Amino acid sequence: MMAVNPLTTMSAGHPTFPCSEALLEQALAVIPLGSQTFSKSLTQLPRGVSPFFVDRAEGPWFWDVDGHRFLDLTNGLACITLGHRNPLVDQAVRTQLERGVTFSLPHPLERQVAELIIAMVPCAEMVRFGKNGTDATSGAIRLARHCTGRDRVAICGYHGWQDWSIGTTSRHGGIPLSVRELSHTFPYNDLSALAELLAAHPGEFAAVILEPMNIAWPQPGYLEGVQALAHQHGALLVFDETITGFRFSNGGAQALFGVTPDLACFGKGLANGYPLSALTGRRELMERISEIFFSGTFGGETLSLAAAKAVLELLSSQPITEQLAAAGQQLAERVSKISADLGLAEVFGLSGHPSWMIWSIRDHANAGNSEIRTLLLQELYSRGIFTIGSHNISAAHDQPCLDLVVQAYSEVLPLLSEALMTAGGVGERLRCDPLVPLFRVR
Ligand SMILES: Cc1ncc(COP(=O)(O)O)c(C=O)c1O
Repeated sequence: MMAVNPLTTMSAGHPTFPCSEALLEQALAVIPLGSQTFSKSLTQLPRGVSPFFVDRAEGPWFWDVDGHRFLDLTNGLACITLGHRNPLVDQAVRTQLERGVTFSLPHPLERQVAELIIAMVPCAEMVRFGKNGTDATSGAIRLARHCTGRDRVAICGYHGWQDWSIGTTSRHGGIPLSVRELSHTFPYNDLSALAELLAAHPGEFAAVILEPMNIAWPQPGYLEGVQALAHQHGALLVFDETITGFRFSNGGAQALFGVTPDLACFGKGLANGYPLSALTGRRELMERISEIFFSGTFGGETLSLAAAKAVLELLSSQPITEQLAAAGQQLAERVSKISADLGLAEVFGLSGHPSWMIWSIRDHANAGNSEIRTLLLQELYSRGIFTIGSHNISAAHDQPCLDLVVQAYSEVLPLLSEALMTAGGVGERLRCDPLVPLFRVR
């Protein structure tokens, strides 16, 4: 029997999403994909069994437009680290709202937030703000190209939607070949592959950019090795800490792993859901931003800066990133045990840092990866747990929340195990079309 279902409109059974579905139809008529963000669109959410529109959120929860309450494991694609509507952040924003939002001159908050970042992040000596992570990574690469006088970039992982980054994926429509040819991908945790790549174009690489960690932990010496190789070849080392920043530790992954890059990019958790990103790094490099063009109308927008100030002050005064790691670790251990006890460890596991664990799903003889993922999403959604395949932990995930998630997995993983016993068993249990696999960047 199903345990207490946190969905508000039913006590058991399959939720339906009539309002979401109707809104999706309307949105699709005027908004391509029906969403501004790929990862919040029907490319990631199986149609018929998923909520598509949110009404409101609070702490660890959100409510969809059909009145279902979900425990939020996605947290706005990892930008909510404190929980939705953190009272101190909300108050800081309200106070600033009373004084204006976007002005005709810079505001002192810009300096205040820059100083907080400089105090927390090892590589940070100067800071410039943007709105999205893409702004910061774009600025980093332009600056690296300017400072080195070189064009090529070595890339590992996802860094946003700009040409040099997404041009390396199968989604490279609209990106000139001449730009794509300047971006070279390299695999994580493989120093010889990077060495070979850099040596193939001596003196031509402006930057080596990577997330210091995403799915896999860096092997001992790996990040140090990347740094040494980049510098040996005259390239700058850029850490993309859009997700890891203010999540893995107060100083980001660079503080956790003790490797200080030349430049680093922050976003997501910097302002707990308000749109703010930051490019930071060594003073002599950052000063040269004034020689290139990195500028935007909303770069000094003050609600996000007020939010960031509140977030950074909270992080500096309380062990929040430690709390995220501890909660995520407990969740990962309990869920992994359920999977292992069912003999599913080869098919379903979790990898990454405890504060940002990502599903790793392998094809099974009786079902493909996408079908398995779709079944897991369908069944977790019907139990009021929202994820798109990761555990993006927030400080609002208290013990009852973790227990609720574990309870849901303890019902869903046995269903998967049973479904995998027969060929086609997973497909038969789907009440929707399986998701179509898309381009991968991690
Ligand atoms: C590591 C990383 N870098 C950059 C970005 C781009 O950030 P944004 O979507 O805010 O432009 C993302 C977004 O998911 C990211 O995960």
